[in-house]
Amino acid sequence: MIRNPEDIKVLVTRHFPGTGIDLLRKEGFNVTLRDVDEPMTYEELTGMAKKHNALLCTVTEKIDKSFLNECDHLEVISQFAVGYDNIDINEATRLGIPVGFTPDVLSEATADVAFGLMIAASRKMFYLHNTISKGEWSYFIPRAHLGTGLRNQTLGIFGLGRIGLEMARLCKGAYNMDIIYHNRTPDKDAENSLGAKFVTFDGLLRQSDVLSVHCSLTEETKGIFDKAAFMKMKPSAIFINTARGQVHNEADLINALENKDIWGAGLDVTDPEPMKPGNPLLGMENVAVLPHIGSAEMETRNEMSVIAAKNIIEFYRGNKLPNIVNPEVY
Ligand code: GLV
Repeated sequence: MIRNPEDIKVLVTRHFPGTGIDLLRKEGFNVTLRDVDEPMTYEELTGMAKKHNALLCTVTEKIDKSFLNECDHLEVISQFAVGYDNIDINEATRLGIPVGFTPDVLSEATADVAFGLMIAASRKMFYLHNTISKGEWSYFIPRAHLGTGLRNQTLGIFGLGRIGLEMARLCKGAYNMDIIYHNRTPDKDAENSLGAKFVTFDGLLRQSDVLSVHCSLTEETKGIFDKAAFMKMKPSAIFINTARGQVHNEADLINALENKDIWGAGLDVTDPEPMKPGNPLLGMENVAVLPHIGSAEMETRNEMSVIAAKNIIEFYRGNKLPNIVNPEVY
């Protein structure tokens, strides 16, 4: 599909880092850059997409069946994220639209956030930080503010992919943690390199001291961490989620923490997002919450914009997308 690049209209839905956008312009594409930070409404997005050939978008854009059918002229969709649960991939494939994404480059940055949240929750860091601004730092109290240690504990990974593997490496290296995991299929390489042990979902719940979620959001994983799951976990366990908020049931998580079915939680993702300021999780001692910043490292976000741009560039050069979600489209 070799065409004059000027005839190719690329809609960039958000103000992504410039490195990738410069590449698109250098290639000669006719780029529409929405240089504002709020997402478009569904109607705005549909209206604008209709006037473009390609879309560079992210997780806040709802690319569902009805959008895709209204915009079935789109030639390629490039997602600035590793997750793509906002896109109906089956429908895109059915319509012959390749979808790109940005895996690998953000694995370390996201695992850092999971690791940081684990420490922050285990030592009540965010809660205690807030007590200082409320003027509640009085004097040293030997039996106050006690957290829980992480050394030689068992880390359970739900979804041992690229990010889960990196979290496991960090925890093994820093705290000599034993690694157990639950995946759809066992990963022999991880078992060999980390001494990781495959367990059933039930085993993961019952044995983990820290349980860190790194799966994709699918019909299978939606709400899988619910009341029944939290009840099976150790009362001393810490639950970490840096994947997608809908993988846990937030009301059940709040109850589990209030009832002391589990000890603490660290969340970079919530349901819904953004989390409301009055959410009880924000006032809990053993809970640390961040506003979905997994990949928010300057180098990482720049690299993501380059990968997202290259997916579009290679497509129009007549090549397969270097990072494609639905290779079956070819
Ligand atoms: C962010 O949530 C991503 O999927 O990259």
